[in-house]
Amino acid sequence: MGVYLISGGAKGIGAGIATKLLADGHRVVIADKAKPESSAARAVICDVSDPAQVASLFTGIEAVEERLDGIICNAGFMIRKPLEELTPEEFNAVLATNLTSAFLLVRCGAKMLRASKGAVVTIASTRAHMSEPDTESYAASKGGLVALTHALAVSLGPDIRVNCISPGWIDTGHYPIRPEDDAQHPAGRVGKVEDIANLAAFLLGPDAEFITGAEFTVDGGMTRKMIYAE
Ligand SMILES: NC(=O)c1ccc[n+]([C@@H]2O[C@H](COP(=O)([O-])OP(=O)(O)OC[C@H]3O[C@@H](n4cnc5c(N)ncnc54)[C@H](O)[C@@H]3O)[C@@H](O)[C@H]2O)c1
Repeated sequence: MGVYLISGGAKGIGAGIATKLLADGHRVVIADKAKPESSAARAVICDVSDPAQVASLFTGIEAVEERLDGIICNAGFMIRKPLEELTPEEFNAVLATNLTSAFLLVRCGAKMLRASKGAVVTIASTRAHMSEPDTESYAASKGGLVALTHALAVSLGPDIRVNCISPGWIDTGHYPIRPEDDAQHPAGRVGKVEDIANLAAFLLGPDAEFITGAEFTVDGGMTRKMIYAE
């Protein structure tokens, strides 16, 4: 059984991945700015956009868990603001959490992952490929994360595999889901955290040995649906 690090694992998709990996018998370390409400994982308060905090996170993993089999780069947030109102500081803050943190985490974890022949899963978004208005910083960060994924896969192979999941709309309890929200999806429903967690667990495991540098869209078919106004 392995040791897995999840950034932003205190709630939402990251917490769902933690639940799945724990249920599969693994040890999990959650690195989040917030404390999880309850989890059998070891929780470390860490702003993963900060290089010093990420370095000390890995000092802790080396001392406590003494090995690492996988990293799930999941921490992320969105600022939705008209372009002229979005400050350069806000743009860079979104990039720092959503994109640079993955670079920091994998850079610090590469030595332990090489030793375990481990794997990385990044959580991007279908917004890497399509947009609503006023989402420039988020779209740029997720597009960067898709590209960072294949760059890391090529640099770190064959020892470490690196793959990306791009979720569509996943219900994390932030908004009530209406019947029409479910109905617009070709799959007939909005996504659940388990939809992402199950694929993440597969990509981290031995059955995904020949898969690296890939992006998996998990969106109930929304990005394959052609939409014209009637
Ligand atoms: N929910 C969706 O519909 C959806 C769709 C596509 C992509 N995603 C992506 O999935 C990931 C998880 O999304 P979610 O919906 O579960 O979000 P969420 O807001 O429910 O949870 C995000 C977690 O990340 C933590 N976090 C944020 N910034 C951090 C930082 N700098 N350092 C450490 N922890 C930090 C938060 O404290 C929180 O616990 C994000 O990268 C998001 O962009 C979500």
